[in-house]
Amino acid sequence: MKDIVENRSRLHLGHKLRIGIIVLRENGFVWCCCLAAYIIASAVADRFFGIMDRLRRQWGIPGMNSKALNKAIWESWDWGAGGDEWTPSEEWKQSVMKCVLEKHMPVGKRVLEIGPGGGRWTGALIERSADFTAVDISASCVELCRNKFGENEKRRFILGSGSDLKGVADGSIDALWSFDVFVHINQNEVEAYADEFRRIMTPGAVGVIHHGSAGGTHGGWRSNLTHEAMLKLLRDRGFEIDDSFLEWQDAGTTHQAGLYKDVINVFRRA
Ligand SMILES: C[S@@+](CC[C@H](N)C(=O)[O-])C[C@H]1O[C@@H](n2cnc3c(N)ncnc32)[C@H](O)[C@@H]1O
Repeated sequence: MKDIVENRSRLHLGHKLRIGIIVLRENGFVWCCCLAAYIIASAVADRFFGIMDRLRRQWGIPGMNSKALNKAIWESWDWGAGGDEWTPSEEWKQSVMKCVLEKHMPVGKRVLEIGPGGGRWTGALIERSADFTAVDISASCVELCRNKFGENEKRRFILGSGSDLKGVADGSIDALWSFDVFVHINQNEVEAYADEFRRIMTPGAVGVIHHGSAGGTHGGWRSNLTHEAMLKLLRDRGFEIDDSFLEWQDAGTTHQAGLYKDVINVFRRA
């Protein structure tokens, strides 16, 4: 149904009237009133979405993606599903593991995860790493992961500020992973993180980051980060881009990185 509303400009008025008559005949007056209300409300919502997007750019305001808001939201989130509320299917998750995580994250290295949340990828990352650190802006996520995975001298969960990696030593990371986190972080904070990546990653270290590409224009509470901006800010800091993709193929199935034109970026410290 949403597709019909979004693509309504593809039908001319005459066609819409003819279709309207068929819909009325087949579904009745009450249902059609609800449909009309839905279409009008969607158009109004779209208009306000556009205004909000313009104002966010013009006024340089953070929208729904400030550090304070991310912290507040994720500290009060119900983590009962462990992050699998964002897993569209078990097949997709297994494919992320096989075609993204296992393909790009080395085994037996020092790994950093940013934003583990409920630990959707954390167990797999810990299994593959010699030393594991996770940093999250949410105290409840840090607490949850500590309880779920345990902490020791080779495994630590750190509460972060949302734009720096203060608890992580210089040149101490061989591989970096972050999924469904940078989609919510605005560009200025991503830039601050990228400065930190340069500091903590050893030469040759790999980073795998899932992030938004459309600057929030496709909804999904995405930040103002675009694909081009991410590539530029990484290259400006001397990183090489190994791969950058919105989807991948696995056994004849195309899997999407996310619902809102999200991207997975694989980069390397030269
Ligand atoms: C949508 S959840 C994803 C959790 C997990 N990575 C997953 O894929 O299931 C977003 C996570 O990012 C964390 N987060 C949000 N903004 C952050 C920031 N600026 N720095 C570090 N973590 C952040 C949140 O606390 C939360 O754990």
